[in-house]
Amino acid sequence: MMSTQHTQEASPAPEARTPLPRVSAEAPFTAVIFGASGDLTRRKLVPGLYALYRDGFLPDRFTIVGVARRELDDQAFRNQMAEAIREHSRIEVTEDTLATFLGRIRYHVSHLDEPESYRALNEKLNDTSVYPANRLFFLAVKPELMSPVVQGLETGSLLYPIRDARWSRVVVEKPFGRDLASAVALNRRLLARLDESQVYRIDHYLGKETVQNMLSFRFANTIFEPLFNQHFVDHVQITVSETVGMESGRGGYFDDSGVVRDMVQNHLLQLLCLVGMEPPSELTARSIHDQKVQLLRSVVPFTPDRIVRDAVRGQYQSGLLDGEPVPGYREEDRVDPDSDTAAYCALRMEIGNWRWSGVPFYLRTGKRLARRVSEIAVQFKTPPLQLFQTVECDGDVCDLTRAKPNVLVFRLQPDEGISLQVSAKRPAMQLMVENVRMHFGYQDTWHKSLPEAYERLLLDVMRGDATLFTRSDEVEAMWSIVDPILHAWEGHRKAYPIAGYAPGSWGPAEADALLQRDGRAWRNPGAPG
Ligand code: BG6
Repeated sequence: MMSTQHTQEASPAPEARTPLPRVSAEAPFTAVIFGASGDLTRRKLVPGLYALYRDGFLPDRFTIVGVARRELDDQAFRNQMAEAIREHSRIEVTEDTLATFLGRIRYHVSHLDEPESYRALNEKLNDTSVYPANRLFFLAVKPELMSPVVQGLETGSLLYPIRDARWSRVVVEKPFGRDLASAVALNRRLLARLDESQVYRIDHYLGKETVQNMLSFRFANTIFEPLFNQHFVDHVQITVSETVGMESGRGGYFDDSGVVRDMVQNHLLQLLCLVGMEPPSELTARSIHDQKVQLLRSVVPFTPDRIVRDAVRGQYQSGLLDGEPVPGYREEDRVDPDSDTAAYCALRMEIGNWRWSGVPFYLRTGKRLARRVSEIAVQFKTPPLQLFQTVECDGDVCDLTRAKPNVLVFRLQPDEGISLQVSAKRPAMQLMVENVRMHFGYQDTWHKSLPEAYERLLLDVMRGDATLFTRSDEVEAMWSIVDPILHAWEGHRKAYPIAGYAPGSWGPAEADALLQRDGRAWRNPGAPG
Protein backbone atom coordinates (compact mmCIF):
# COMPACT_ATOMS: atom_id res chain seq x y z
CA MET A 1 0.00 0.00 0.00
CA MET A 2 1.26 3.46 -0.83
CA SER A 3 1.51 4.98 2.60
CA THR A 4 0.51 8.48 3.64
CA GLN A 5 4.21 9.12 4.19
CA HIS A 6 4.98 8.48 0.53
CA THR A 7 2.10 10.66 -0.54
CA GLN A 8 3.42 13.53 1.54
CA GLU A 9 6.91 13.21 0.09
CA ALA A 10 5.39 13.80 -3.31
CA SER A 11 3.46 16.93 -2.35
CA PRO A 12 4.12 19.59 0.30
CA ALA A 13 2.29 19.62 3.63
CA PRO A 14 -1.00 21.57 3.48
CA GLU A 15 0.34 24.59 5.38
CA ALA A 16 3.36 24.84 3.02
CA ARG A 17 1.29 24.94 -0.18
CA THR A 18 0.94 28.15 -2.16
CA PRO A 19 -2.61 29.43 -1.70
CA LEU A 20 -4.74 29.18 -4.83
CA PRO A 21 -5.92 32.44 -6.44
CA ARG A 22 -9.42 33.44 -5.33
CA VAL A 23 -12.26 32.63 -7.70
CA SER A 24 -15.01 34.70 -6.16
CA ALA A 25 -18.08 36.01 -7.96
CA GLU A 26 -17.38 39.66 -8.72
CA ALA A 27 -20.63 41.08 -10.09
CA PRO A 28 -23.44 42.11 -7.70
CA PHE A 29 -26.53 39.93 -8.17
CA THR A 30 -30.03 39.08 -6.99
CA ALA A 31 -30.70 35.35 -6.54
CA VAL A 32 -34.38 34.46 -6.78
CA ILE A 33 -35.28 31.01 -5.47
CA PHE A 34 -38.60 29.62 -6.74
CA GLY A 35 -39.65 26.85 -4.36
CA ALA A 36 -38.35 28.66 -1.29
CA SER A 37 -40.43 26.59 1.13
CA GLY A 38 -39.01 23.34 -0.21
CA ASP A 39 -36.54 20.88 1.18
CA LEU A 40 -33.77 21.70 -1.29
CA THR A 41 -33.81 25.39 -0.31
CA ARG A 42 -33.55 24.50 3.36
CA ARG A 43 -31.02 21.70 3.11
CA LYS A 44 -28.72 22.81 0.31
CA LEU A 45 -29.30 26.17 -1.36
CA VAL A 46 -29.45 28.61 1.52
CA PRO A 47 -26.80 26.80 3.65
CA GLY A 48 -24.63 26.68 0.50
CA LEU A 49 -25.05 30.42 -0.11
CA TYR A 50 -24.25 31.08 3.53
CA ALA A 51 -21.00 29.08 3.27
CA LEU A 52 -20.01 30.99 0.12
CA TYR A 53 -20.74 34.27 1.89
CA ARG A 54 -18.85 33.36 5.05
CA ASP A 55 -15.83 32.23 3.05
CA GLY A 56 -15.73 35.48 1.08
CA PHE A 57 -16.78 34.13 -2.32
CA LEU A 58 -19.74 36.46 -2.82
CA PRO A 59 -19.58 40.10 -3.99
CA ASP A 60 -20.22 42.99 -1.58
CA ARG A 61 -23.72 43.52 -2.95
CA PHE A 62 -26.16 40.67 -3.32
CA THR A 63 -29.75 39.93 -2.32
CA ILE A 64 -31.50 36.59 -2.02
CA VAL A 65 -35.26 36.47 -2.62
CA GLY A 66 -37.26 33.41 -1.59
CA VAL A 67 -40.42 32.97 -3.66
CA ALA A 68 -43.25 30.67 -2.54
CA ARG A 69 -47.00 30.56 -2.09
CA ARG A 70 -47.14 30.71 1.67
CA GLU A 71 -47.98 34.11 3.22
CA LEU A 72 -44.83 35.13 5.10
CA ASP A 73 -43.02 38.39 5.71
CA ASP A 74 -39.27 38.89 5.29
CA GLN A 75 -38.56 38.36 8.95
CA ALA A 76 -40.50 35.12 9.24
CA PHE A 77 -38.67 33.75 6.20
CA ARG A 78 -35.31 34.84 7.62
CA ASN A 79 -36.10 33.01 10.86
CA GLN A 80 -36.83 29.84 8.90
CA MET A 81 -33.62 30.19 6.93
CA ALA A 82 -31.59 30.82 10.10
CA GLU A 83 -32.90 27.55 11.46
CA ALA A 84 -32.12 25.77 8.19
CA ILE A 85 -28.55 27.09 8.19
CA ARG A 86 -27.96 26.07 11.79
CA GLU A 87 -29.30 22.61 11.07
CA HIS A 88 -27.66 21.92 7.71
CA SER A 89 -24.54 24.03 7.45
CA ARG A 90 -21.33 22.12 6.65
CA ILE A 91 -19.29 24.84 8.32
CA GLU A 92 -19.46 26.31 11.78
CA VAL A 93 -22.11 29.03 12.01
CA THR A 94 -21.02 32.24 13.67
CA GLU A 95 -23.85 34.45 14.90
CA ASP A 96 -22.45 37.72 13.53
CA THR A 97 -21.92 36.44 9.96
CA LEU A 98 -25.31 34.75 10.14
CA ALA A 99 -27.01 38.01 11.15
CA THR A 100 -25.43 40.01 8.28
CA PHE A 101 -26.21 37.21 5.83
CA LEU A 102 -29.85 37.09 6.91
CA GLY A 103 -30.05 40.84 6.35
CA ARG A 104 -29.57 40.10 2.62
CA ILE A 105 -32.63 37.82 2.46
CA ARG A 106 -36.10 38.89 1.30
CA TYR A 107 -39.35 37.03 0.69
CA HIS A 108 -41.93 37.36 -2.06
CA VAL A 109 -45.36 35.69 -1.99
CA SER A 110 -46.25 34.30 -5.38
CA HIS A 111 -48.61 31.84 -7.00
CA LEU A 112 -46.38 30.28 -9.56
CA ASP A 113 -49.13 29.65 -12.07
CA GLU A 114 -50.38 33.27 -12.05
CA PRO A 115 -48.77 35.64 -14.58
CA GLU A 116 -49.64 38.63 -12.38
CA SER A 117 -47.27 37.34 -9.65
CA TYR A 118 -44.33 37.57 -12.04
CA ARG A 119 -45.15 41.15 -13.01
CA ALA A 120 -45.28 42.08 -9.34
CA LEU A 121 -41.95 40.35 -8.78
CA ASN A 122 -40.42 42.25 -11.69
CA GLU A 123 -41.62 45.56 -10.31
CA LYS A 124 -40.06 44.73 -6.98
CA LEU A 125 -36.74 43.66 -8.52
CA ASN A 126 -36.56 46.83 -10.59
CA ASP A 127 -35.61 48.68 -7.41
CA THR A 128 -31.89 48.15 -7.92
CA SER A 129 -30.99 49.93 -4.70
CA VAL A 130 -32.12 46.74 -2.92
CA TYR A 131 -32.00 44.19 -5.73
CA PRO A 132 -28.81 44.33 -7.83
CA ALA A 133 -29.64 44.19 -11.54
CA ASN A 134 -28.01 40.84 -12.45
CA ARG A 135 -30.56 38.09 -11.86
CA LEU A 136 -30.14 34.43 -11.06
CA PHE A 137 -33.36 32.43 -11.02
CA PHE A 138 -33.16 29.09 -9.26
CA LEU A 139 -36.03 26.76 -10.20
CA ALA A 140 -36.29 24.40 -7.23
CA VAL A 141 -39.90 23.51 -8.09
CA LYS A 142 -41.84 20.36 -8.91
CA PRO A 143 -41.35 19.16 -12.50
CA GLU A 144 -44.90 20.15 -13.49
CA LEU A 145 -44.19 23.74 -12.44
CA MET A 146 -41.02 24.15 -14.50
CA SER A 147 -42.77 25.22 -17.68
CA PRO A 148 -45.20 27.63 -15.94
CA VAL A 149 -42.30 29.30 -14.15
CA VAL A 150 -40.27 29.68 -17.36
CA GLN A 151 -43.39 31.09 -19.00
CA GLY A 152 -43.88 33.43 -16.03
CA LEU A 153 -40.29 34.70 -16.30
CA GLU A 154 -41.05 35.53 -19.90
CA THR A 155 -44.43 37.19 -19.45
CA GLY A 156 -43.30 39.04 -16.34
CA SER A 157 -40.36 40.50 -18.38
CA LEU A 158 -37.94 39.22 -15.77
CA LEU A 159 -35.28 38.12 -18.26
CA TYR A 160 -32.77 40.34 -20.06
CA PRO A 161 -31.77 39.69 -23.64
CA ILE A 162 -28.43 37.93 -24.04
CA ARG A 163 -26.69 41.09 -25.28
CA ASP A 164 -27.79 43.20 -22.32
CA ALA A 165 -24.98 44.42 -20.06
CA ARG A 166 -26.89 42.97 -17.11
CA TRP A 167 -27.13 39.20 -16.96
CA SER A 168 -30.03 36.87 -16.21
CA ARG A 169 -29.39 33.15 -15.70
CA VAL A 170 -31.82 30.34 -15.03
CA VAL A 171 -30.79 27.33 -12.96
CA VAL A 172 -33.01 24.27 -13.47
CA GLU A 173 -33.02 21.53 -10.87
CA LYS A 174 -33.43 17.91 -11.78
CA PRO A 175 -35.50 16.08 -12.84
CA PHE A 176 -35.20 17.81 -16.21
CA GLY A 177 -38.37 16.45 -17.78
CA ARG A 178 -39.98 13.07 -17.28
CA ASP A 179 -38.87 11.46 -20.51
CA LEU A 180 -37.26 12.42 -23.79
CA ALA A 181 -40.34 14.17 -25.19
CA SER A 182 -40.91 16.35 -22.12
CA ALA A 183 -37.18 17.17 -21.87
CA VAL A 184 -37.20 18.28 -25.52
CA ALA A 185 -40.31 20.40 -24.85
CA LEU A 186 -38.74 22.00 -21.76
CA ASN A 187 -35.53 22.75 -23.66
CA ARG A 188 -37.57 24.32 -26.42
CA ARG A 189 -39.44 26.51 -23.97
CA LEU A 190 -36.23 27.62 -22.23
CA LEU A 191 -34.32 28.23 -25.43
CA ALA A 192 -37.16 30.19 -27.04
CA ARG A 193 -36.35 33.05 -24.71
CA LEU A 194 -32.88 32.32 -23.40
CA ASP A 195 -29.53 31.54 -24.93
CA GLU A 196 -28.04 28.13 -24.04
CA SER A 197 -25.34 30.01 -22.10
CA GLN A 198 -28.03 31.44 -19.78
CA VAL A 199 -29.44 28.03 -18.80
CA TYR A 200 -27.78 25.94 -16.08
CA ARG A 201 -29.19 22.40 -15.75
CA ILE A 202 -28.03 21.03 -12.43
CA ASP A 203 -26.72 17.57 -11.74
CA HIS A 204 -25.28 17.91 -8.27
CA TYR A 205 -22.95 14.93 -8.83
CA LEU A 206 -20.87 17.15 -11.11
CA GLY A 207 -20.28 19.54 -8.21
CA LYS A 208 -18.62 16.83 -6.14
CA GLU A 209 -14.88 17.35 -5.87
CA THR A 210 -14.07 13.71 -6.55
CA VAL A 211 -16.29 13.58 -9.62
CA GLN A 212 -14.52 16.63 -11.03
CA ASN A 213 -11.22 14.93 -10.29
CA MET A 214 -12.04 12.20 -12.81
CA LEU A 215 -10.99 14.57 -15.60
CA SER A 216 -7.72 15.57 -13.90
CA PHE A 217 -6.87 12.01 -13.05
CA ARG A 218 -7.53 10.67 -16.52
CA PHE A 219 -6.07 13.50 -18.56
CA ALA A 220 -3.28 14.90 -16.35
CA ASN A 221 -1.45 11.58 -15.92
CA THR A 222 0.45 9.63 -18.51
CA ILE A 223 0.17 6.20 -16.99
CA PHE A 224 -3.59 5.58 -16.97
CA GLU A 225 -5.14 7.14 -20.06
CA PRO A 226 -3.26 4.96 -22.59
CA LEU A 227 -4.78 1.93 -20.85
CA PHE A 228 -8.37 3.14 -20.85
CA ASN A 229 -9.62 1.19 -23.84
CA GLN A 230 -10.77 -2.19 -25.13
CA HIS A 231 -7.20 -3.51 -25.37
CA PHE A 232 -6.56 -3.35 -21.63
CA VAL A 233 -9.88 -2.92 -19.82
CA ASP A 234 -11.97 -6.01 -19.12
CA HIS A 235 -15.01 -4.13 -17.82
CA VAL A 236 -16.13 -1.14 -15.76
CA GLN A 237 -18.48 -1.13 -12.75
CA ILE A 238 -20.29 2.01 -11.62
CA THR A 239 -22.01 1.72 -8.25
CA VAL A 240 -24.07 4.36 -6.47
CA SER A 241 -25.60 2.58 -3.52
CA GLU A 242 -27.61 4.17 -0.75
CA THR A 243 -28.89 2.97 2.60
CA VAL A 244 -31.76 5.47 2.74
CA GLY A 245 -35.32 4.45 1.89
CA MET A 246 -38.33 6.74 1.53
CA GLU A 247 -37.88 8.77 4.71
CA SER A 248 -39.22 12.34 5.13
CA GLY A 249 -42.12 11.87 2.72
CA ARG A 250 -39.83 11.27 -0.29
CA GLY A 251 -42.03 8.34 -1.33
CA GLY A 252 -44.53 10.65 -3.04
CA TYR A 253 -41.95 12.03 -5.47
CA PHE A 254 -39.95 8.83 -5.81
CA ASP A 255 -42.84 6.46 -6.45
CA ASP A 256 -43.86 8.64 -9.36
CA SER A 257 -40.30 8.79 -10.74
CA GLY A 258 -38.41 5.60 -9.91
CA VAL A 259 -34.70 5.02 -9.79
CA VAL A 260 -34.05 5.40 -13.51
CA ARG A 261 -35.35 8.98 -13.59
CA ASP A 262 -34.03 9.79 -10.14
CA MET A 263 -30.48 8.44 -10.43
CA VAL A 264 -29.60 6.74 -13.73
CA GLN A 265 -30.68 9.31 -16.32
CA ASN A 266 -28.53 11.93 -14.62
CA HIS A 267 -25.94 10.93 -11.99
CA LEU A 268 -24.95 7.50 -13.28
CA LEU A 269 -24.82 8.51 -16.92
CA GLN A 270 -22.68 11.51 -16.00
CA LEU A 271 -20.24 9.15 -14.29
CA LEU A 272 -20.29 6.97 -17.39
CA CYS A 273 -19.38 10.03 -19.48
CA LEU A 274 -16.49 10.99 -17.24
CA VAL A 275 -14.92 7.56 -17.24
CA GLY A 276 -15.57 6.88 -20.93
CA MET A 277 -15.31 10.17 -22.85
CA GLU A 278 -12.47 11.16 -25.15
CA PRO A 279 -10.10 13.90 -23.98
CA PRO A 280 -11.56 17.36 -24.68
CA SER A 281 -9.40 19.72 -26.72
CA GLU A 282 -9.61 22.34 -23.98
CA LEU A 283 -11.18 22.58 -20.55
CA THR A 284 -14.09 24.70 -21.66
CA ALA A 285 -17.77 23.95 -21.16
CA ARG A 286 -18.25 23.53 -24.89
CA SER A 287 -15.38 21.16 -25.46
CA ILE A 288 -16.27 18.95 -22.48
CA HIS A 289 -19.96 18.85 -23.39
CA ASP A 290 -19.09 17.94 -26.98
CA GLN A 291 -17.12 14.91 -25.81
CA LYS A 292 -19.82 13.80 -23.40
CA VAL A 293 -22.46 13.97 -26.09
CA GLN A 294 -20.25 11.94 -28.45
CA LEU A 295 -19.90 9.24 -25.81
CA LEU A 296 -23.62 9.17 -25.01
CA ARG A 297 -24.48 8.84 -28.68
CA SER A 298 -22.16 5.84 -28.95
CA VAL A 299 -24.08 3.88 -26.30
CA VAL A 300 -25.63 0.79 -27.90
CA PRO A 301 -29.42 1.33 -27.68
CA PHE A 302 -31.58 -0.72 -25.34
CA THR A 303 -33.88 -2.72 -27.61
CA PRO A 304 -36.75 -4.71 -25.99
CA ASP A 305 -34.65 -7.91 -26.17
CA ARG A 306 -31.69 -6.23 -24.62
CA ILE A 307 -33.84 -4.83 -21.84
CA VAL A 308 -34.95 -8.37 -20.93
CA ARG A 309 -31.34 -9.52 -20.94
CA ASP A 310 -29.35 -6.52 -19.72
CA ALA A 311 -31.60 -4.53 -17.37
CA VAL A 312 -32.72 -5.58 -13.89
CA ARG A 313 -35.17 -3.69 -11.74
CA GLY A 314 -35.84 -4.34 -8.09
CA GLN A 315 -37.70 -3.30 -4.97
CA TYR A 316 -36.54 -3.83 -1.40
CA GLN A 317 -38.57 -6.01 0.90
CA SER A 318 -39.14 -5.46 4.59
CA GLY A 319 -36.45 -6.73 6.91
CA LEU A 320 -33.63 -5.60 9.16
CA LEU A 321 -31.13 -2.90 8.35
CA ASP A 322 -28.32 -2.57 10.89
CA GLY A 323 -30.46 -4.60 13.26
CA GLU A 324 -33.44 -2.21 12.95
CA PRO A 325 -36.70 -3.27 11.24
CA VAL A 326 -37.42 -1.31 8.05
CA PRO A 327 -40.54 -1.42 5.85
CA GLY A 328 -40.50 -2.85 2.36
CA TYR A 329 -40.73 -0.41 -0.55
CA ARG A 330 -44.46 -0.94 -1.02
CA GLU A 331 -45.13 -0.32 2.66
CA GLU A 332 -43.31 3.00 2.68
CA ASP A 333 -45.08 6.27 3.42
CA ARG A 334 -46.71 7.75 0.27
CA VAL A 335 -45.87 4.71 -1.87
CA ASP A 336 -48.65 2.86 -3.69
CA PRO A 337 -49.03 -0.59 -2.02
CA ASP A 338 -49.22 -2.16 -5.51
CA SER A 339 -46.41 -0.06 -6.93
CA ASP A 340 -43.95 -1.60 -9.32
CA THR A 341 -41.71 1.43 -9.44
CA ALA A 342 -38.07 0.37 -9.36
CA ALA A 343 -36.06 1.32 -6.29
CA TYR A 344 -33.05 -0.57 -7.66
CA CYS A 345 -31.66 -0.88 -11.14
CA ALA A 346 -28.70 -2.69 -12.70
CA LEU A 347 -27.74 -2.29 -16.33
CA ARG A 348 -25.22 -3.88 -18.65
CA MET A 349 -24.27 -1.20 -21.13
CA GLU A 350 -22.09 -1.23 -24.21
CA ILE A 351 -20.40 1.64 -25.95
CA GLY A 352 -20.01 0.97 -29.63
CA ASN A 353 -17.00 3.15 -30.41
CA TRP A 354 -13.38 2.34 -31.21
CA ARG A 355 -12.21 2.86 -27.66
CA TRP A 356 -14.77 0.79 -25.81
CA SER A 357 -16.31 -1.71 -28.19
CA GLY A 358 -16.61 -5.08 -26.43
CA VAL A 359 -16.07 -3.67 -22.91
CA PRO A 360 -19.21 -3.99 -20.78
CA PHE A 361 -20.10 -1.16 -18.43
CA TYR A 362 -22.17 -2.44 -15.50
CA LEU A 363 -24.16 0.21 -13.65
CA ARG A 364 -26.15 -0.30 -10.46
CA THR A 365 -27.91 1.94 -8.01
CA GLY A 366 -30.60 1.49 -5.39
CA LYS A 367 -32.04 2.40 -2.05
CA ARG A 368 -31.71 0.42 1.19
CA LEU A 369 -28.55 -1.34 0.07
CA ALA A 370 -25.70 -2.56 2.22
CA ARG A 371 -23.89 0.75 2.48
CA ARG A 372 -23.69 4.25 1.07
CA VAL A 373 -20.96 4.15 -1.54
CA SER A 374 -20.37 5.78 -4.91
CA GLU A 375 -17.50 4.43 -6.92
CA ILE A 376 -16.24 3.67 -10.40
CA ALA A 377 -14.08 0.57 -10.74
CA VAL A 378 -12.09 -0.05 -13.90
CA GLN A 379 -11.07 -3.68 -14.03
CA PHE A 380 -8.19 -4.49 -16.35
CA LYS A 381 -7.67 -7.73 -18.22
CA THR A 382 -6.12 -10.63 -16.38
CA PRO A 383 -2.44 -10.93 -17.20
CA PRO A 384 -1.05 -14.28 -18.44
CA LEU A 385 -0.39 -16.14 -15.20
CA GLN A 386 1.08 -19.17 -16.90
CA LEU A 387 4.46 -17.89 -15.88
CA PHE A 388 3.63 -18.33 -12.23
CA GLN A 389 1.99 -21.69 -12.62
CA THR A 390 5.22 -23.21 -13.83
CA VAL A 391 7.21 -22.19 -10.78
CA GLU A 392 7.82 -25.13 -8.45
CA CYS A 393 6.66 -24.95 -4.91
CA ASP A 394 7.27 -27.09 -1.88
CA GLY A 395 5.13 -27.89 1.09
CA ASP A 396 1.46 -27.04 1.18
CA VAL A 397 1.52 -23.66 -0.57
CA CYS A 398 1.14 -24.52 -4.19
CA ASP A 399 -1.57 -22.10 -5.29
CA LEU A 400 0.39 -19.58 -7.25
CA THR A 401 -2.45 -17.97 -9.14
CA ARG A 402 -4.33 -16.11 -6.49
CA ALA A 403 -3.52 -12.88 -8.28
CA LYS A 404 -6.50 -10.93 -9.40
CA PRO A 405 -6.41 -8.44 -12.25
CA ASN A 406 -5.55 -4.81 -11.66
CA VAL A 407 -8.52 -2.74 -10.58
CA LEU A 408 -8.47 1.04 -10.51
CA VAL A 409 -11.13 2.35 -8.14
CA PHE A 410 -12.34 5.93 -7.96
CA ARG A 411 -14.10 6.21 -4.61
CA LEU A 412 -16.38 9.23 -4.98
CA GLN A 413 -17.91 9.00 -1.50
CA PRO A 414 -17.35 8.36 1.35
CA ASP A 415 -13.58 7.94 2.07
CA GLU A 416 -12.91 9.86 -1.14
CA GLY A 417 -9.83 8.63 -2.93
CA ILE A 418 -8.33 6.48 -5.64
CA SER A 419 -6.82 3.05 -5.26
CA LEU A 420 -5.11 0.62 -7.53
CA GLN A 421 -5.10 -3.08 -6.89
CA VAL A 422 -1.84 -4.70 -8.01
CA SER A 423 -0.23 -8.12 -7.67
CA ALA A 424 2.89 -8.59 -5.60
CA LYS A 425 4.92 -11.45 -4.23
CA ARG A 426 3.90 -12.36 -0.73
CA PRO A 427 6.96 -12.53 1.51
CA ALA A 428 7.75 -16.23 1.86
CA MET A 429 10.32 -18.79 0.79
CA GLN A 430 8.18 -19.70 -2.18
CA LEU A 431 6.50 -17.64 -4.89
CA MET A 432 2.98 -16.66 -4.01
CA VAL A 433 1.31 -13.78 -5.83
CA GLU A 434 -1.16 -11.72 -3.83
CA ASN A 435 -3.24 -8.58 -4.21
CA VAL A 436 -2.14 -5.38 -2.57
CA ARG A 437 -3.53 -1.90 -2.76
CA MET A 438 -1.89 1.42 -3.59
CA HIS A 439 -4.04 4.18 -2.23
CA PHE A 440 -4.44 7.93 -2.41
CA GLY A 441 -6.95 9.43 0.04
CA TYR A 442 -8.15 13.02 -0.12
CA GLN A 443 -8.23 13.30 3.63
CA ASP A 444 -4.69 11.92 4.11
CA THR A 445 -3.28 14.28 1.53
CA TRP A 446 -5.17 17.52 1.97
CA HIS A 447 -6.52 17.28 5.51
CA LYS A 448 -9.55 19.39 4.75
CA SER A 449 -13.23 18.80 4.32
CA LEU A 450 -14.42 18.88 0.73
CA PRO A 451 -16.82 21.65 -0.33
CA GLU A 452 -20.48 20.81 -0.78
CA ALA A 453 -21.47 20.20 -4.40
CA TYR A 454 -24.07 22.99 -4.34
CA GLU A 455 -21.57 25.57 -3.13
CA ARG A 456 -19.34 24.97 -6.12
CA LEU A 457 -22.26 24.90 -8.54
CA LEU A 458 -23.88 28.09 -7.23
CA LEU A 459 -20.57 29.91 -7.41
CA ASP A 460 -20.09 28.73 -10.99
CA VAL A 461 -23.50 30.11 -11.99
CA MET A 462 -22.59 33.48 -10.52
CA ARG A 463 -19.28 33.37 -12.39
CA GLY A 464 -21.01 32.32 -15.61
CA ASP A 465 -19.18 29.01 -15.95
CA ALA A 466 -21.41 26.22 -17.32
CA THR A 467 -18.76 23.48 -17.44
CA LEU A 468 -20.28 21.51 -14.56
CA PHE A 469 -23.85 21.75 -15.87
CA THR A 470 -25.67 19.74 -18.50
CA ARG A 471 -26.18 21.11 -22.01
CA SER A 472 -29.50 20.70 -23.83
CA ASP A 473 -28.27 18.08 -26.32
CA GLU A 474 -26.54 16.22 -23.48
CA VAL A 475 -29.69 15.97 -21.39
CA GLU A 476 -31.61 14.78 -24.45
CA ALA A 477 -28.93 12.19 -25.29
CA MET A 478 -29.24 10.86 -21.73
CA TRP A 479 -33.00 10.58 -21.99
CA SER A 480 -32.61 8.79 -25.34
CA ILE A 481 -30.65 6.05 -23.56
CA VAL A 482 -33.14 5.43 -20.75
CA ASP A 483 -36.40 6.17 -22.56
CA PRO A 484 -36.75 2.64 -24.04
CA ILE A 485 -36.19 1.13 -20.58
CA LEU A 486 -38.87 3.32 -19.01
CA HIS A 487 -41.19 2.62 -21.88
CA ALA A 488 -40.73 -1.14 -21.50
CA TRP A 489 -40.98 -1.23 -17.72
CA GLU A 490 -43.95 1.14 -17.49
CA GLY A 491 -45.80 0.09 -20.63
CA HIS A 492 -45.34 -3.68 -20.57
CA ARG A 493 -45.11 -4.43 -16.89
CA LYS A 494 -45.73 -8.17 -17.11
CA ALA A 495 -42.93 -8.77 -19.58
CA TYR A 496 -40.34 -7.26 -17.23
CA PRO A 497 -40.73 -8.69 -13.74
CA ILE A 498 -39.55 -6.75 -10.74
CA ALA A 499 -37.13 -8.57 -8.43
CA GLY A 500 -37.22 -8.36 -4.64
CA TYR A 501 -34.14 -7.89 -2.46
CA ALA A 502 -33.42 -7.84 1.23
CA PRO A 503 -32.65 -4.48 2.85
CA GLY A 504 -28.94 -4.28 3.62
CA SER A 505 -28.05 -6.57 0.71
CA TRP A 506 -26.34 -5.60 -2.56
CA GLY A 507 -29.56 -5.97 -4.56
CA PRO A 508 -31.48 -8.81 -6.18
CA ALA A 509 -29.96 -12.13 -7.30
CA GLU A 510 -30.95 -11.24 -10.87
CA ALA A 511 -28.36 -8.45 -10.81
CA ASP A 512 -25.68 -10.95 -9.79
CA ALA A 513 -26.76 -13.20 -12.64
CA LEU A 514 -26.24 -10.29 -15.06
CA LEU A 515 -22.49 -10.48 -14.40
CA GLN A 516 -22.25 -14.23 -13.75
CA ARG A 517 -23.47 -14.78 -17.28
CA ASP A 518 -20.34 -12.98 -18.48
CA GLY A 519 -18.11 -14.88 -16.01
CA ARG A 520 -17.79 -11.82 -13.80
CA ALA A 521 -19.00 -10.66 -10.38
CA TRP A 522 -19.91 -7.37 -8.74
CA ARG A 523 -17.27 -5.95 -6.45
CA ASN A 524 -18.06 -5.61 -2.80
CA PRO A 525 -17.46 -1.88 -2.40
CA GLY A 526 -17.45 -2.30 1.35
CA ALA A 527 -13.93 -3.55 1.08
CA PRO A 528 -11.72 -0.69 -0.09
CA GLY A 529 -9.48 -1.37 -3.08
C1 BG6 B 1 -30.60 12.91 -5.59
C2 BG6 B 1 -31.70 11.89 -5.63
O1 BG6 B 1 -30.44 13.52 -6.83
O2 BG6 B 1 -29.39 12.27 -5.22
C3 BG6 B 1 -31.84 11.16 -4.31
O3 BG6 B 1 -32.92 12.54 -5.94
C4 BG6 B 1 -30.50 10.61 -3.87
O4 BG6 B 1 -32.79 10.12 -4.38
C5 BG6 B 1 -29.42 11.68 -3.94
O5 BG6 B 1 -30.65 10.13 -2.54
C6 BG6 B 1 -28.05 11.09 -3.67
O6 BG6 B 1 -27.12 12.14 -3.60
P1 BG6 B 1 -25.78 12.00 -2.75
O7 BG6 B 1 -25.07 13.28 -3.00
O8 BG6 B 1 -26.19 11.79 -1.32
O9 BG6 B 1 -25.06 10.79 -3.29
